[in-house]
Amino acid sequence: MQRLFRKRIVLGVGGGIAAYKSAELVRRLRDQGAEVRVVMTRAGCEFITPLTLQALSGHPVGLDLLDPAAEAAMGHIELARWADLVLIAPATADLMARLAQGVANDLLTTLVLATDAPVALAPAMNQAMWRDPATQANAQLLEQRGMRLFGPGVGSQACGDTGAGRMLEAEELAQRAADCFQAGLLDGVRVLITAGPTREAIDPVRYITNHSSGKMGFALAEAAAEAGAQVTLVCGPVHLPTPQRVQRIDVSSARDMLAACEAAMPCELLIAAAAVADYRPQVVASHKLKKDPTREDGLLLQLVRNPDILATLAGRSDRPFSVGFAAETENLLDYASRKLRDKNLDLIVANDVANPNIGFNSEDNAITVIDRQLQPTAFAQTSKGKIARQLIAFIADRLQRA
Ligand code: C5P
Repeated sequence: MQRLFRKRIVLGVGGGIAAYKSAELVRRLRDQGAEVRVVMTRAGCEFITPLTLQALSGHPVGLDLLDPAAEAAMGHIELARWADLVLIAPATADLMARLAQGVANDLLTTLVLATDAPVALAPAMNQAMWRDPATQANAQLLEQRGMRLFGPGVGSQACGDTGAGRMLEAEELAQRAADCFQAGLLDGVRVLITAGPTREAIDPVRYITNHSSGKMGFALAEAAAEAGAQVTLVCGPVHLPTPQRVQRIDVSSARDMLAACEAAMPCELLIAAAAVADYRPQVVASHKLKKDPTREDGLLLQLVRNPDILATLAGRSDRPFSVGFAAETENLLDYASRKLRDKNLDLIVANDVANPNIGFNSEDNAITVIDRQLQPTAFAQTSKGKIARQLIAFIADRLQRA
């Protein structure tokens, strides 16, 4: 569904009347989450203005090979490296001939030579030009070298002829571009993730909380969205930017978090990475508590249990595939296995928060995932971003088999 999410596409625009469809194509690619940089040939600029494509892509259009300003920003080699896909639409007969010969006499042909990314061409020309043996031979040669041809389509042409040579429509080209990338591991799966600490009020200015930074939950939300999931991230108070394409809901207390999660149900996958406070003050004072001279020896704060968000959601009749975290300082695997059973989970991710290099508030993590058969799978210490991607791939695999 979101195979173009965050994919980097260089759209090359050649000089053909079909260039008017390229404007629509930029929109369609961006609708699917792709980042688009447009490069135009000189002839392309005769059919559609760079300004139009700059406005639609949100970036300056590449025009000249020898452009000091572009070389300072994103020159041809940088663009060639940046691209996940180079899509040339329209690809004229002349452009295809130059590509077949390896000519590098403008920005677009040069970057095609320089890139390691896949290159796709959407031929667009008069039907007689397309049928011409020279063009056919060029098309064959380019395909043999690994370039993909999208079309051309058959039908009426701007010049009045009818036949093969029409550029495919923008919608279809965007679909073909998406087909160049593998489907996401969690395409279309609804994922609910809890992250960060909760804050339990004592009075209007004081509260009980913990050291959770939310980094692991946010990294998981980002990795799940990258894998094509529809992610809702319910988080306690944290100082982190919202990952792209993630719906974020900010909450404060455990009870708020539970209410937000219940409102976000149903979902297929729940990952509870939040460090939820187990207890909250029984009474929240409506005014700031004053020092009491009659209580010089101390103050007793009565706490009551918070609801267990994970166990509540994993206990529902429409329960999602449920993944919990167990942050422990001792008997890690033993305690984690018990939690898996007690909370009716599919997987539990155990991490040793006694180790200062991993876990709470640190950049790295090292984890062991335990399944219902109590089989452990260890993931070695690395950044939370990398661990998150590995974990999402592991969970996606288990979810598929469930
Ligand atoms: O029981 P413990 O707090 O160690 O369990 C940890 C797991 O349970 C984590 O996945 C955490 O997000 C979840 N949890 C919860 N609601 C609570 C307590 C823990 O969702 N009240």
